[in-house]
Amino acid sequence: YDIPLAVNEPVNSYAPGTPERESLQKAYDEMWNQKLDIPMVIAGKNVTTGNTQRVISPQDHQHDLGSYHLGTADHVHQAIDAALAAKEGWERLPWEHRAAIFLKAADLIAGPYRDRINAATMIGQGKNAMQTEIDAACETIDFLRFNVQYMAELYSQQPESSEGVWNRTEYRALEGFTFAISPFNFTAIAGNLPTSMAMLGNTVVWKPSYSQMYSAHVLMEIFTEAGVPAGVINMIATDPQETADIVFGHKDFAGLHYTGSTTVFKNIWKTIGNNIDKYKTYPRIVGETGGKDFILAHPSADAKQVSTAMVRGAFEFQGQKCSAASRAYVPSNIWEDVKKYMIADLKDIKMGTPRDFTNFVNAVIHEASFDKLASFIDGAKADANAEIIAGGNYDKSVGYFVEPTVILAKDPKYTTMCEELFGPVLTVYVYDENEYDATVELVDNTSIYGLTGAIFCKDKAVVAETAHRLRNAAGNFYINDKPTGAVVGQQPFGGGRASGTNDKAGSMLNLLRWVSPRTIKETF
Ligand code: ALA
Repeated sequence: YDIPLAVNEPVNSYAPGTPERESLQKAYDEMWNQKLDIPMVIAGKNVTTGNTQRVISPQDHQHDLGSYHLGTADHVHQAIDAALAAKEGWERLPWEHRAAIFLKAADLIAGPYRDRINAATMIGQGKNAMQTEIDAACETIDFLRFNVQYMAELYSQQPESSEGVWNRTEYRALEGFTFAISPFNFTAIAGNLPTSMAMLGNTVVWKPSYSQMYSAHVLMEIFTEAGVPAGVINMIATDPQETADIVFGHKDFAGLHYTGSTTVFKNIWKTIGNNIDKYKTYPRIVGETGGKDFILAHPSADAKQVSTAMVRGAFEFQGQKCSAASRAYVPSNIWEDVKKYMIADLKDIKMGTPRDFTNFVNAVIHEASFDKLASFIDGAKADANAEIIAGGNYDKSVGYFVEPTVILAKDPKYTTMCEELFGPVLTVYVYDENEYDATVELVDNTSIYGLTGAIFCKDKAVVAETAHRLRNAAGNFYINDKPTGAVVGQQPFGGGRASGTNDKAGSMLNLLRWVSPRTIKETF
């Protein structure tokens, strides 16, 4: 197939004095002073209800950013009906035309919408400019362009034929409608979940996180301008439980593309199981859920490299990445050096609003997250098994600010070594340098998750042995690098165990879940 070959979108540096920086700051200021009125979008129409919720910026929770409209059960039904009504026409559209729409969406983000989607993410999700550029601009663009390429490759996979017999595979969309639930932490995930399904001829009901409504709204503007037809992607803001009851109780429910918490995903899975007799077809269930991602340093590791990975892996975007390093195992022989470098780096880190581009750490997403983090930090302060060696302060008077915090755990199964906190808290366990083997075992059995992990080691034989022993502990395994920052087309992303179904976002493996192939044999 002769389609534009996908290449990763170059990342703007936003260095001081560059026109890109000036332009993004201007967009931020303009949007900061806008009073939003965010509608749902159902059957191509903006739907307002008058029942509104404030859009809250993490860095200044009292600032008036406007609001989004909440829908009712009726709106969930309308969104499903719209998706079903749009299905046949959309599925019949030759795939090249569907592809062109999503390639255009990518171009709109790369060009005229870049500042707008970035500023919305900085304001609404509290991400600094660099992290936003990597996510909202580049990763969203990459998902769209690479998925189009994978789609073309997928469609080109055809069986053998023989004299007088023509065999072929028709990559049908799923029968019914599909449902996407996206999280607050990556605008790119919100961009990917509905579009990856829609690209293959599915029509979608999409429920973004309430904490991501600003950039979700901008994504919807982009989809519409790119030419996604009415009803193909319907964005709703409705009560989660009520929505789940309606969607998963519907006979035409055909697939779920989910990123969010493990608990919610397990509940959804049970609900789908309880409704299985209602469905026309077995629904596809794809979910990426929690993580308790590790850094394991071997006694041969370079202390500076380990410390940099800990700081970047744990504290970029306030640790609110499912991939974030949240537990580290450091051998006694390099610990004093690792600690020295880490504390020096943390002293240089500035915390505050993303409007100031020099702030590396910003606020956490909302009050519930802030309160949870504060309670774990207080717990560590009061526990003889833990010692706070960096950070430990928090303040929610203006925004939800939690200092990058490092807890030294005396017990390798200390609560913050095991539980996902989803914030800027890293727990370190220092192991006896002669106990590496036992520590590998600990890494494997301390958490229920299996998303990302990193090993730092100079001995290749040890790396190979450890990679084997930890083969189920991480779906994305990094050797001598931090466990975050997977790039579409380079490191397909996802994990197993309680971290998800591991259907690698941004890969053909993922797209395969959204088609129901029909094998056709024709004789002459
Ligand atoms: N894909 C994101 C990362 O790798 C979550 O950090």
